[in-house]
Amino acid sequence: MLIGFMGTGKSTLGRQLARRIGYDFIDTDLAIEEVTGKTVEKIFRKDGPIRFRSEENLLARKLSVRSGLVIATGGGMVLNSENVNLLKQNGVLIGLKAEAEIIFSRVRNKRRRPLLRRGNLRENVERLLREREGAYDAADFTIDTGKLSFGEALNEIHSYL
Ligand code: S3P
Repeated sequence: MLIGFMGTGKSTLGRQLARRIGYDFIDTDLAIEEVTGKTVEKIFRKDGPIRFRSEENLLARKLSVRSGLVIATGGGMVLNSENVNLLKQNGVLIGLKAEAEIIFSRVRNKRRRPLLRRGNLRENVERLLREREGAYDAADFTIDTGKLSFGEALNEIHSYL
Protein backbone atom coordinates (compact mmCIF):
# COMPACT_ATOMS: atom_id res chain seq x y z
CA MET A 1 0.00 0.00 0.00
CA LEU A 2 1.32 3.40 -0.91
CA ILE A 3 0.72 6.37 1.35
CA GLY A 4 1.84 9.96 1.16
CA PHE A 5 0.91 13.48 0.24
CA MET A 6 -0.72 14.41 -3.07
CA GLY A 7 1.73 14.46 -5.93
CA THR A 8 4.28 12.13 -4.41
CA GLY A 9 3.60 9.52 -7.11
CA LYS A 10 1.37 6.98 -5.36
CA SER A 11 -0.87 6.27 -8.34
CA THR A 12 1.77 6.20 -11.06
CA LEU A 13 4.25 4.11 -9.08
CA GLY A 14 1.49 1.89 -7.70
CA ARG A 15 0.17 1.04 -11.12
CA GLN A 16 3.63 0.06 -12.38
CA LEU A 17 4.48 -1.85 -9.23
CA ALA A 18 1.29 -3.87 -9.54
CA ARG A 19 2.11 -4.69 -13.13
CA ARG A 20 5.61 -5.76 -12.18
CA ILE A 21 4.62 -8.07 -9.36
CA GLY A 22 1.41 -9.32 -10.95
CA TYR A 23 -0.98 -7.88 -8.39
CA ASP A 24 -4.20 -6.03 -9.05
CA PHE A 25 -4.07 -2.30 -8.60
CA ILE A 26 -6.54 -0.12 -6.73
CA ASP A 27 -6.49 3.63 -6.51
CA THR A 28 -8.75 4.53 -3.59
CA ASP A 29 -9.87 7.83 -5.15
CA LEU A 30 -10.99 6.01 -8.30
CA ALA A 31 -12.63 3.24 -6.26
CA ILE A 32 -14.63 5.84 -4.32
CA GLU A 33 -15.66 7.52 -7.56
CA GLU A 34 -16.87 4.17 -8.86
CA VAL A 35 -18.81 3.25 -5.73
CA THR A 36 -20.49 6.64 -5.34
CA GLY A 37 -20.86 7.47 -9.02
CA LYS A 38 -19.44 10.93 -8.29
CA THR A 39 -16.06 12.52 -8.78
CA VAL A 40 -13.95 13.21 -5.70
CA GLU A 41 -14.40 16.88 -6.43
CA LYS A 42 -18.18 16.53 -6.48
CA ILE A 43 -18.28 14.56 -3.23
CA PHE A 44 -16.27 17.29 -1.48
CA ARG A 45 -18.41 20.03 -2.99
CA LYS A 46 -21.88 18.51 -2.62
CA ASP A 47 -21.57 16.15 0.33
CA GLY A 48 -18.61 17.63 2.16
CA PRO A 49 -15.21 16.37 3.26
CA ILE A 50 -16.64 14.33 6.14
CA ARG A 51 -18.61 12.22 3.67
CA PHE A 52 -15.50 11.66 1.58
CA ARG A 53 -13.56 10.59 4.66
CA SER A 54 -16.28 8.15 5.61
CA GLU A 55 -16.17 6.65 2.10
CA GLU A 56 -12.41 6.27 2.59
CA ASN A 57 -13.00 4.56 5.90
CA LEU A 58 -15.54 2.19 4.39
CA LEU A 59 -13.10 1.31 1.65
CA ALA A 60 -10.24 0.78 4.13
CA ARG A 61 -12.44 -1.76 5.91
CA LYS A 62 -13.16 -3.61 2.69
CA LEU A 63 -9.55 -3.56 1.57
CA SER A 64 -8.19 -4.72 4.92
CA VAL A 65 -9.46 -8.23 4.21
CA ARG A 66 -8.14 -8.49 0.67
CA SER A 67 -4.74 -9.61 -0.50
CA GLY A 68 -2.78 -9.57 -3.74
CA LEU A 69 -3.34 -5.87 -4.19
CA VAL A 70 -1.23 -2.80 -4.64
CA ILE A 71 -3.23 0.08 -3.23
CA ALA A 72 -2.55 3.74 -3.91
CA THR A 73 -4.33 5.66 -1.17
CA GLY A 74 -5.60 9.23 -1.34
CA GLY A 75 -3.34 11.65 0.51
CA GLY A 76 -5.77 11.96 3.41
CA MET A 77 -6.44 8.26 3.96
CA VAL A 78 -3.94 7.88 6.80
CA LEU A 79 -5.15 10.97 8.67
CA ASN A 80 -7.58 8.54 10.28
CA SER A 81 -5.66 6.20 12.56
CA GLU A 82 -8.33 3.54 12.21
CA ASN A 83 -7.57 3.40 8.50
CA VAL A 84 -3.87 3.00 9.28
CA ASN A 85 -4.57 0.09 11.61
CA LEU A 86 -6.92 -1.54 9.13
CA LEU A 87 -4.55 -1.25 6.22
CA LYS A 88 -1.54 -2.39 8.24
CA GLN A 89 -3.34 -5.59 9.12
CA ASN A 90 -2.56 -7.28 5.87
CA GLY A 91 0.04 -5.25 4.11
CA VAL A 92 3.15 -3.18 4.08
CA LEU A 93 2.79 0.60 4.15
CA ILE A 94 5.20 2.26 1.78
CA GLY A 95 5.53 5.99 2.33
CA LEU A 96 6.24 8.35 -0.53
CA LYS A 97 7.47 11.83 0.12
CA ALA A 98 8.81 14.77 -1.85
CA GLU A 99 9.75 18.34 -1.15
CA ALA A 100 7.09 21.04 -1.41
CA GLU A 101 8.66 22.42 -4.57
CA ILE A 102 8.37 19.06 -6.34
CA ILE A 103 4.84 18.43 -5.11
CA PHE A 104 3.82 21.86 -6.23
CA SER A 105 5.01 21.18 -9.76
CA ARG A 106 3.19 17.83 -9.89
CA VAL A 107 -0.28 18.67 -8.61
CA ARG A 108 -1.52 20.51 -11.65
CA ASN A 109 -4.40 18.07 -12.06
CA LYS A 110 -6.83 19.46 -9.53
CA ARG A 111 -9.84 17.50 -10.68
CA ARG A 112 -9.50 15.02 -7.85
CA ARG A 113 -7.89 17.51 -5.50
CA PRO A 114 -10.56 19.86 -4.21
CA LEU A 115 -8.36 20.79 -1.26
CA LEU A 116 -6.07 22.60 -3.67
CA ARG A 117 -8.70 24.27 -5.81
CA ARG A 118 -9.18 27.52 -4.02
CA GLY A 119 -6.61 30.22 -3.48
CA ASN A 120 -2.94 29.95 -4.06
CA LEU A 121 -1.73 26.49 -4.98
CA ARG A 122 1.69 26.86 -3.44
CA GLU A 123 0.29 28.20 -0.17
CA ASN A 124 -2.26 25.40 0.01
CA VAL A 125 0.38 22.75 -0.52
CA GLU A 126 2.68 24.29 2.10
CA ARG A 127 -0.10 24.68 4.65
CA LEU A 128 -1.35 21.12 4.23
CA LEU A 129 2.18 19.76 4.44
CA ARG A 130 2.65 21.65 7.71
CA GLU A 131 -0.70 20.50 9.08
CA ARG A 132 0.06 16.92 8.19
CA GLU A 133 3.57 16.77 9.52
CA GLY A 134 4.05 13.31 10.97
CA ALA A 135 0.86 11.93 9.42
CA TYR A 136 2.81 9.77 7.00
CA ASP A 137 5.17 8.41 9.64
CA ALA A 138 2.93 5.36 9.85
CA ALA A 139 4.83 3.99 6.84
CA ASP A 140 7.06 0.94 7.30
CA PHE A 141 9.47 2.30 4.74
CA THR A 142 9.68 5.69 3.07
CA ILE A 143 11.32 6.92 -0.10
CA ASP A 144 11.76 10.41 -1.48
CA THR A 145 10.39 10.35 -5.01
CA GLY A 146 11.80 13.79 -5.72
CA LYS A 147 15.33 12.44 -5.39
CA LEU A 148 14.91 9.25 -7.40
CA SER A 149 14.07 8.52 -11.00
CA PHE A 150 10.83 6.66 -11.62
CA GLY A 151 12.71 3.40 -12.23
CA GLU A 152 14.84 3.83 -9.12
CA ALA A 153 11.79 4.50 -6.98
CA LEU A 154 10.10 1.41 -8.37
CA ASN A 155 13.18 -0.72 -7.67
CA GLU A 156 13.48 0.62 -4.13
CA ILE A 157 9.90 -0.28 -3.33
CA HIS A 158 10.13 -3.66 -5.03
CA SER A 159 13.28 -4.65 -3.18
CA TYR A 160 11.71 -3.70 0.14
CA LEU A 161 8.74 -6.01 -0.37
C1 S3P B 1 -6.64 14.22 -0.65
C2 S3P B 1 -5.89 13.65 -1.65
C3 S3P B 1 -6.46 13.21 -2.94
C4 S3P B 1 -7.94 12.88 -2.79
C5 S3P B 1 -8.67 14.01 -2.15
C6 S3P B 1 -8.12 14.37 -0.77
C7 S3P B 1 -5.97 14.65 0.59
O1 S3P B 1 -5.78 12.06 -3.41
O2 S3P B 1 -8.11 11.73 -2.03
O3 S3P B 1 -8.61 15.11 -2.98
O4 S3P B 1 -6.67 14.93 1.59
O5 S3P B 1 -4.72 14.68 0.61
P1 S3P B 1 -4.27 12.05 -4.02
O6 S3P B 1 -3.30 12.00 -2.89
O7 S3P B 1 -4.25 10.81 -4.84
O8 S3P B 1 -4.13 13.29 -4.84
